Amino acid sequence: MTEVTRVLLLLRFLWTLTLSRGDADVSCVFMQSCVLPCSFQSDTDVIIHWIQTPGDLHVHSYYQNQDQLGNQHQNFRGRTSLFKEQISGGNASLQLTGVRVQDQGGYKCHTSTITGNKDGVIQLKVDAPVRKIHIEQVGNRITCSSQGIYPKPELTWSTDPPSSSKSTITVHPTEQQLYNISSSLILSDPVPDVIYSCRISTRTNTRRTTLRNTASINSSSSDTTLSCATSNSPPLSLIWRFNHSQIILSQSSDGHAVSKEWRQQVKSVSETGGLTLHQLSAEHQGTYTCEFTNKEETHISNTVLRTERGGERSSSSAAVTGLVFAAILVLAAGVTGLVIYRKKR
Ligand SMILES: *[C@@H]1O[C@H](CO)[C@@H](O)[C@H](O)[C@H]1NC(C)=O
Ligand SMILES: *[C@@H]1O[C@H](CO)[C@@H](O)[C@H](O)[C@H]1NC(C)=O
Ligand SMILES: *[C@@H]1O[C@H](CO)[C@@H](O)[C@H](O)[C@H]1NC(C)=O
Ligand SMILES: *[C@@H]1O[C@H](CO)[C@@H](O)[C@H](O)[C@H]1NC(C)=O
Repeated sequence: MTEVTRVLLLLRFLWTLTLSRGDADVSCVFMQSCVLPCSFQSDTDVIIHWIQTPGDLHVHSYYQNQDQLGNQHQNFRGRTSLFKEQISGGNASLQLTGVRVQDQGGYKCHTSTITGNKDGVIQLKVDAPVRKIHIEQVGNRITCSSQGIYPKPELTWSTDPPSSSKSTITVHPTEQQLYNISSSLILSDPVPDVIYSCRISTRTNTRRTTLRNTASINSSSSDTTLSCATSNSPPLSLIWRFNHSQIILSQSSDGHAVSKEWRQQVKSVSETGGLTLHQLSAEHQGTYTCEFTNKEETHISNTVLRTERGGERSSSSAAVTGLVFAAILVLAAGVTGLVIYRKKR
C-alpha cells in the first residue's frame, strides 16, 4: 500500500463516519424557545420549507420573500419564526417557542434557490430538568417528590450511615407528557443524626435533597449554635424556620433578611449556614429547620431546642411586670382622684 492510497482510505473512512453520524441533534428545554439550525448557499428566489417527520406536518414555509403559513399545522401556530434579515445571507434557521414534549422528532429543512436545492434533517429532543425536590417527614415516613420532569426520571434513596429501609416509587405521567415522581421511605426505628438522601435524575441533570434530624439540644445561658449543613461550599440560598412555619431568616444572592420577631435573638450566621442565637426564653422552645441549597443539592436539617432555664427566668420576669403594672394602676387612680377632688373644690 502506498502512502497515497493510505491517505485516500483514511479520507474515505472519515467521510463515511461523518455521513453515518446522521442527523444533528438539538436539545430544547421544555417551555423555552429553541433554534433549529439550517443554512444554504445564498442566492435569489429563496424557498424554505420546514417539515416535521414522520407525519410530514408543515411547520413553516417561506417564499416570494415572505412567510407562507397557509398550510401550517395547528401544532405550530404562532410558535415559529425565521431570522428574516439573515435569510439573504443563507440562514434558514427556525425558531420555535414554548417547546413541548410533542415537538420531539425529526425536522426537515428544505431550501431551494435559483442555483439548486438542499435538504437537511435535525432531531429535536426535549428536556425538562429536575428542579425542586420536596422532602417531608410525617411520623416514621419520609416522602420525597418532584414534578414536571422529562424524560422519565429515576429516584434513589440512601442513608448515612447505611441502613436498609423499605421504599416504593410512583411515577405519574402528566397532561403535558412530563413525569411527576414520588417515593416514601418507611423508617424502621428513627434515630437522630441519620442523613436521609433522595436523589432524582433525568437525562440532563441530577438533584439531591437530604433530611437530617439532629439530637435535640438545650439552650445555654449565653449563645446557642445550631448547625446546618456539612457542605463546604457556601449556599445559593439559606432559610431558617421555626416550628415549620415562621421564617427566622433568609439569605440568597439578592441579600440577607432577618425577620423582625427574631432580630433580638439572631446573633450571627456562619459560612455554612450555622445559626447562633442569644437571649432565648421559653417562647423560643421548638423545632428549628435549616434549608440550605447550592447548585446541585438541598440539605434540610431539623433541631429541637429546649430552653428550661430561660423558661423560669421568663415566668419570674412576667411576675415582676405584673407587679409594676399594678403599681402604675394604683398610682394613676390616685392622681385621677386628686384631680377630681381639686376640681370639685
Ligand atoms: C441564524 O441566525 C440566528 C440569529 O442570529 C443564529 O442564532 C443562528 O445561529 C444562525 N444560524 C446559522 C446556521 O447561521
Ligand atoms: C403533577 O404535579 C403537578 C404540580 O404539582 C400537579 O399540578 C399535577 O396535578 C400532577 N399530575 C399528576 C398526574 O400527578
Ligand atoms: C438537656 O436537658 C435534659 C433535661 O433536663 C437532659 O435530660 C439532657 O441530658 C440534656 N441534654 C444535653 C445535651 O445537655
Ligand atoms: C413550637 O413547637 C413546640 C413543640 O411543638 C411548642 O411546645 C411551642 O409552643 C411552639 N412555639 C410556638 C411559639 O408556637
